[in-house]
Amino acid sequence: MIHSALINVMVKAARRAGRSLKRDLGEIENLQVSLKGPANFVSAADRRAEDILYEELSKARPGYGFIGEEGGTREGSDKTNTWIVDPLDGTTNFLHGIPQFAISIGLQREGTMIAGVIYNPANDELYIAERGKGAFLNDTRLRVAARRKLDDCVIACGLPHIGRGDHELARREMAELQPRVAGLRRFGAASLDLAFVAAGRLDGYWERNLKPWDIAAGLIMVREAGGIVSGIEGHDNTLESGNVVCGNEVIHAELVRILKPL
Ligand code: IPD
Ligand code: CA
Ligand code: CA
Repeated sequence: MIHSALINVMVKAARRAGRSLKRDLGEIENLQVSLKGPANFVSAADRRAEDILYEELSKARPGYGFIGEEGGTREGSDKTNTWIVDPLDGTTNFLHGIPQFAISIGLQREGTMIAGVIYNPANDELYIAERGKGAFLNDTRLRVAARRKLDDCVIACGLPHIGRGDHELARREMAELQPRVAGLRRFGAASLDLAFVAAGRLDGYWERNLKPWDIAAGLIMVREAGGIVSGIEGHDNTLESGNVVCGNEVIHAELVRILKPL
């Protein structure tokens, strides 16, 4: 399948960083049993992957700004284009050898997401989206699921971990949704949750307190697959608010209706 030069740049960077993460995942298994544990090793794996992404992306598109989870914001001479990058989304999964993690690369142009690549090196699933050109998983065109009744739906959420977010609110949200859906899931990598909605595997997803790098690529993925993404308050700027709810038109509206008043 032929993609634009821009997508080729993003895919090349994601695959190279993916090889690095995959090698490091192999090491984790040995480190699991050591007393010191693999936590420090994982933060090094994270940084290694981000360095590769920065190197590849800035070589191909010099001047673009770069916001990465590990290295913070690097201003570019070109103020209209910014990469928004999570070198390892799903760190806790990675740390535990659970193969649900990804590299997430989004490109924002004049405030709008125009391209996204999400790559899970553990199973070689590569998600691609470009504004106006659709979303793809390993070259198959994606479309959000068509289910219209919440009780047929599998919905994913995020759960704030220790010391983060509002645990009480998260429990209220689950208590409201659990009895109304076919299944609730918590997979642990926001970028892949959004990619799964784009792929029609999940019917919907919501989470609060996310960072721009968790969702930048996923937002365009869902939209290019025909889905609706907004903040939980309705239509706030999700990249700024960090609150996300998505699904097809009907399921998105249902989720907003239930979650908004909580
Ligand atoms: C995390 C994952 C997780 C979400 C957390 C994020 P990280 O990103 O996306 O699913 O619930 O809020 O921080 O830390 O693994 O890059
Ligand atoms: Ca993340
Ligand atoms: Ca991360």
